[in-house]
Amino acid sequence: MRVAFYSTKEYDKEFFKKAQGEHEFLFLKNALRSETAPLAAGCEAVCVFVNDELTREVLVRLRHEGVRLVALRCAGYNNVDIEAARELGLKVARVPAYSPHAVAEHAVAMLLTLNRKTHRAYNRVREGNFELHGLMGFDLFGKTVGVFGTGKIGIAFAKIMNGMGCRVLVCDPYPSEEARQFELVDPEELYRECDVVSLHCPLLEDTYHLYNQETFLKSKPGFTLINTGRGALVDASAAIAALKTGQLGYLAMDVYEEERDYFFADQSSGIIQDDVLMRLMTFPNVLITGHQAFFTHEAMAGIVGTTMDNIADYQAGVDLRNGV
Ligand code: NAI
Repeated sequence: MRVAFYSTKEYDKEFFKKAQGEHEFLFLKNALRSETAPLAAGCEAVCVFVNDELTREVLVRLRHEGVRLVALRCAGYNNVDIEAARELGLKVARVPAYSPHAVAEHAVAMLLTLNRKTHRAYNRVREGNFELHGLMGFDLFGKTVGVFGTGKIGIAFAKIMNGMGCRVLVCDPYPSEEARQFELVDPEELYRECDVVSLHCPLLEDTYHLYNQETFLKSKPGFTLINTGRGALVDASAAIAALKTGQLGYLAMDVYEEERDYFFADQSSGIIQDDVLMRLMTFPNVLITGHQAFFTHEAMAGIVGTTMDNIADYQAGVDLRNGV
C-alpha cells in the first residue's frame, strides 16, 4: 500500500523504513494542511503526527486524492475532526499506547530538574562555578502529588511518585480499577491539596484550559505544574500571571498551545514572534521541552509496530484494533 507520511523527521524515516516491507512509503517533511493534502495523491493512507491538521477541509481533500485510512502515529487525536472523517468514510487509527513509561518518566525528569535545578547547576559547573546559592530544592518524599487523568500514562506517573514516597491524589471522571489504588478526589480537592500536579488527561472540550486564572487561584500557593499532555490544557497567559505572583511556583511544559508554529524545528536563527512563549522562556522556574516526552527507543518501536498493525487491519478489511 502507498502511504504518505507527513511531518516526517529523520528518526521517523529510520524506524519506519525498517518496517516498510512490500509497502511504498512516501516521506514528506511538510506538515499536513489543506495546501499540502494534494501531496498524498495516489496514496491510500496518510500517516500523521500531533501537529498535522485534519480539519474537515483537509479530510475532504484527502478523500478526493484517494485516501481511505488516516493512521495517526501518536495517541492523542484532538487534531482530527472525527465526525467529518466518519461522514467521509475515512478510517482513523491511532497508537493508543506505545510506552506510557516514556511520557511518565519524562514528566518525572522535568519535575526533578525544576525542583533540584539541575538545568542551572549544569551550566554553572561547566563555567567552574560550584556555588550552591539559588539551587535549593525540596524533598518530594511526603509531598502531595495530583494526577489529572489516570489512563496508561497517568497511572505510570502515579506509581513512580508513589514509589518516591509521595501521597498521590488522582482525578478522573472514568477511573480504571488500577486508579482506585490511589486516592480518588474531585478536581477541587486536587487543586487545593497538591504541591505538584501533573496533567495526563486528553485535550477535550471540558479539559481545555483546565488550568486558567480561576484554577490557578484555587491551587496551593507555590505549587508545581507539569504538562506533558497537550498545550491547551493550560492557559499560558494565565500561567505567566500566576508565575509573576508566585502562586505558581514552577512550571514544566513539554507541550504548548501554539506549538505547531515552532516545535519540532530549529528556530534558533529566526525571530520567534510568540511573546507568550518567549516570556515563559525567561523564567528561571519554567522548563520547556519541545514535545519530546514520547521520544525513546522503546516508544518509537511501539509506534511503528502499532501503526503497521493498523495498516494490516485496514488491508485485511477487519475492524481496526486501534480505530478511533
Ligand atoms: P488514556 O486514554 O490511557 O488516558 C486518559 C485518561 O484521562 C482516561 O482515563 C480518561 O478517563 C481521563 N480523562 C478524561 N477526561 C478527564 C478529565 N476531565 N479530568 C481528568 N481525567 C480525564 O491516555 P494516555 O495514553 O494516558 O495519554 C494521556 C494524554 O497524554 C494523551 O491524550 C495525549 O494528549 C498525551 N500524550 C503526550 C505525549 C507527549 O509526548 N508529550 C505522548 C503521548 C500522549
